[in-house]
Formats: sequence, structure tokens, C-alpha cells
Amino acid sequence: MIVVCPNCFTRYKLTGEQTPAARFQARCSKCGQIFTAYRPVEVEQIPFVDLEQSRKKTADSSVIAVSNQKGGVAKTTTCLNLGISLALHSKKVLLVDFDVQANLTISLGLAPAKSIYDLITGKVDRLDTLIQATKYEGLSILPSAKNLVLLNKKFFGARNFEFILKDRLAELKDDFDYIIIDTPPSIELFTLNALTAAGLTIIPTQCDYLSTHGIEQILKLIKLVRSKTNSTLEARVLITMFDPQSTASRLISKKIKRLYGDITFQTLIEMDHRVREAQIMSMPVIHYNKQSKAGRQYLKLAKELIT
Ligand SMILES: Nc1ncnc2c1ncn2[C@@H]1O[C@H](COP(=O)(O)OP(=O)(O)OP(=O)(O)O)[C@@H](O)[C@H]1O
Ligand SMILES: [Mg+2]
Repeated sequence: MIVVCPNCFTRYKLTGEQTPAARFQARCSKCGQIFTAYRPVEVEQIPFVDLEQSRKKTADSSVIAVSNQKGGVAKTTTCLNLGISLALHSKKVLLVDFDVQANLTISLGLAPAKSIYDLITGKVDRLDTLIQATKYEGLSILPSAKNLVLLNKKFFGARNFEFILKDRLAELKDDFDYIIIDTPPSIELFTLNALTAAGLTIIPTQCDYLSTHGIEQILKLIKLVRSKTNSTLEARVLITMFDPQSTASRLISKKIKRLYGDITFQTLIEMDHRVREAQIMSMPVIHYNKQSKAGRQYLKLAKELIT
């Protein structure tokens, strides 16, 4: 089995004797990080539909992973509001909530009992039976549910585990113009699967002191994914929760543009209290209030992405 250090991404191959318990503590000999690892099932037990195709096929550029190991940087907010903005530009959009926190699912007022875990374990036959249409035209969601955590516990580290999502999304290839995947603020199975399935990673970044460190970390991970499972993966940085009144915000956005200008979206998303209000109402912000600054900026971002 393979164990990946969540801090420096060093991969270790362990034998059965080295992993006697289903869950164990490991220490990375490179960076010293202590982390919890899970012994996965044997590789034969991951029921791929067509692993060979998934390994061979270039990732689809309309599949977008929204990722940053830093927490609270507006990953979920970006998925929801970019998703609805693309739908308002007449695109058919599928949101994939690939985070056990299920914040994206909750943001749309849903609480399903089943997740993609039920598909992988054979309790559900087809992926499309898990997909729910939302009340917004053109916007659907593959929701998260409590049992999604078992996907990580069972399969993380098994050979080819990074291809589980890509293998299953192939079933939907012509049904949507965009598939947007929300990921947790950590690596493990979910983020590695999303980055393997996607053609593009959007990296939402707040303008705070440690933001450039967060970008560096995720770009390192993307480099690793390019070398192992997805050679064509692209990355774009999105500045979020920008406060034009704040000197720190202005200084750090300048720094981000200086360091990563070639991959940073021109559109930035400003701090807007209506985002939080809309969340309480389980709504995308543009539907909550058409005048919302952030809502309009997400529409502009959708346009920038399409063109
Ligand atoms: N433009 C904005 N203006 C004001 N608040 C915002 C904005 N964008 C996001 N937020 C708020 O910031 C908080 C964190 O956002 P969000 O949950 O999208 O982050 P996340 O990166 O998905 O977090 P996690 O790492 O826990 O998954 C939420 O309360 C959200 O409402
Ligand atoms: Mg989130």
C-alpha cells in the first residue's frame, strides 16, 4: 500500500506486515510530520469501470477542481457561485461535493443519505441516480453524505486509488458543459482524485499573510499530480474576499499578482457580507441579491473562464 505524507507529499510503499492495524499513526521520515493513515482494501476490490481508459485519457478541460489545502479560503463558495454563474451563461453545470464536510450540499439546502460511496460499493448501479437537479436551471449536484468518509478510509493508498472519480465521471461525459469539484482543506483521497479527474484547478486565495505559502503548497501538489496521474493539469489562482479598503489586502494581492500573475484570474472576488447572508438562506449570492458585488464578480469570472 502507499501512504502519502499530508505535509510534504512524500509517498511510502508499505508492506502488509508494516501496517498491522486498519488505522495507524505514521511519521514522515522526510519532514517529521506525524499523521493518521488507513490500511486500504486490496487493489482488486476497487471496482473500476474502465481503469485502463481512465489512465490513458487526457483529463477533460471542462472538469474543474477547486482546491487549496488552506481552510476557509472560499473553495465551497466559489464552487456554488461560479457554478450558478456558468448556468446563468446557459451552461449545463454539475457540482460535485467531494468533501465529507458536505458544505456545498448543505449550501443548497440538501441532506441526502447516499453518496458516490454507495456507487463504488455497488449499493447504487448508476452515477446519474445520485445526481440531483437543483431549483436553479442548468445546475445539478452530486452531493456528499456522511458515508463519503468511508471512501477515504477504505481506498486511500490502494493502487490506482487516484482514478476512482475520473473513472466514474466518464459515464457523464456528454451530459454537462462543466463539472466543478469541491475539495476538503487537506490532501488524502478526495483532493488527489479531484486533481486527477480535472483539466483545471482553481486555487481560491484570501489576501492574508500566509496566502502565498498556501499557493506554493498546492502548486507543489499539482506538480506531483502532473508527474504521477494527470500530466495536463492546469492551475489558476483566484483572489477571494478581497477588501479594497484594507492595506494588507491590497499589498498581498499585488504580491500574488507579482508572483503568480500569469496564472491569476483578472477577476477578483471582493469581501461581501451578502455572501454570508445568502449562505444562511441556502442560496447562491446572485439569486439572494442581484446587486451583490461578489455575485456580479462571480458572473464576470464565469465569463472570463468561458472566453
Ligand atoms: N466574498 C466573500 N465575502 C464574504 N464572505 C465570504 C466570501 N467568500 C466566502 N465567504 C465566507 O467565508 C467562509 C469560508 O468560505 P468557504 O466555506 O467557502 O471556504 P472553504 O475554503 O470551502 O472552507 P473549507 O476549507 O472549510 O472547506 C464562509 O463563511 C463564507 O460565507
Ligand atoms: Mg469548503
